[in-house]
Amino acid sequence: MDHFLYRDGRLHAEDVPLAEIAAEVGTPFYVYSTATLTRHFRLFDEALDGMEHLVCYAMKAASNQAIIKTLAELGAGMDVVSGGEYTRAKAAGVPGDRIVFSGVGKTRDEMRMALEGGIRQFNVESEAEMAALDEVAQGLGLRAPITVRVNPDVDAKTHAKIATGKSENKFGIPISRARDVYALAAGMPGLEVVGIDVHIGSQITELEPYRLAYEKVAELTEALREDGHDIHRLDLGGGLGIPYERANSAPPLPVEYGQLIKETLGHLGCEIEIEPGRLVAGNAGLLVSRVIYVKAGEGRDFLILDAAMNDLIRPAMYDAWHDIVPLAEPAAGIDQRAYDIVGPVCESGDTFAKARMMPPLIEGDLVAFRSAGAYGAVMSSEYNTRPLVPEVLVHEHQFAVIRARPTFDEMIKRDTIPEWL
Ligand code: LLP
Repeated sequence: MDHFLYRDGRLHAEDVPLAEIAAEVGTPFYVYSTATLTRHFRLFDEALDGMEHLVCYAMKAASNQAIIKTLAELGAGMDVVSGGEYTRAKAAGVPGDRIVFSGVGKTRDEMRMALEGGIRQFNVESEAEMAALDEVAQGLGLRAPITVRVNPDVDAKTHAKIATGKSENKFGIPISRARDVYALAAGMPGLEVVGIDVHIGSQITELEPYRLAYEKVAELTEALREDGHDIHRLDLGGGLGIPYERANSAPPLPVEYGQLIKETLGHLGCEIEIEPGRLVAGNAGLLVSRVIYVKAGEGRDFLILDAAMNDLIRPAMYDAWHDIVPLAEPAAGIDQRAYDIVGPVCESGDTFAKARMMPPLIEGDLVAFRSAGAYGAVMSSEYNTRPLVPEVLVHEHQFAVIRARPTFDEMIKRDTIPEWL
């Protein structure tokens, strides 16, 4: 179900014409659909029906307070990877016992913050981190609930920069060493072992890598139980991919993923956690931009947009494809032409698409990047002193700016000139 559709020739977010938001907020801007966020969260929640579970939204995908609150009100937990994300989750009203703390380099300060503020569990990634957490927890007179993130050495068949479950990746501890590491954890008075964590990558478009990883987790659960550990919670990570190129991709559905979890792990009686980010937020958001110029190049035409790589870095960083559509519905059967679609930043890498077939566009036209809700706004920067793009949330016929565009003055005021200048 798509909540970004043409109606009367104009692209809408739910019941709001996007051109109206553009007129009020200016371009570029990110816009999210509440109905899509809600639907995607529920798809996961329902996929795990029949098993005790918590869907912990991976906040790194899109962490605006309004987005987190929307999901938290549906009962979502949160997966955080920094003190900043932890603080954001708490600020949006998420209780500590629904927050899991992931990440390969948690600092002692971050550990202390989470222990004091309340935490469901830490997903620990190394013996060194385990020792640090033990020390911090004991210092506070507490026991930190932990899982150990194991690296199952499975090829997730995704982009190299977002694969995490192969032995050469920095994440987790090799599954072959897991029993030793759990024995070590059991001897640390500041830690309480509650389960196992695994996450093999992102934008995974086949279920087979999950099957291989979860079969290994099932075996490990039994082995650790034999060793006397109380393994009652399995955090299975995030990673389910989305169809960026709607014409040619059909990644697995949450319901199929849920079925696989039941098949591979259901017999263990564990509580299940999953940490989806992209599938919840990705197709819930668009980046809307305006054509500044159309420029005739040699053998190609350029569409120069007012959005750039600093606003949406995925094409430059991962060669990612985003469908780009005009806000005004093209006439049926109109001849398309090939454009290189670029931003104004002074780098050739500031290219969103090459030879992309589009209906003819002119200066001033509005376009939308689809599937930009995850890893869009959160990865943006102010490179070239371009203000962070505002974010807008739509709910049926209403919309609200949920992060305003900073003014140049606000941006400059963050700098401080030292006394000697
Ligand atoms: N849990 C952990 C421990 C993770 O590292 C990640 C993503 C997730 C959950 C959520 O995965 P998802 O369901 O969103 O695939 N910036 C990249 C994606 C980086 C993903 C990093 N980890 C991109 O734009 O494609």
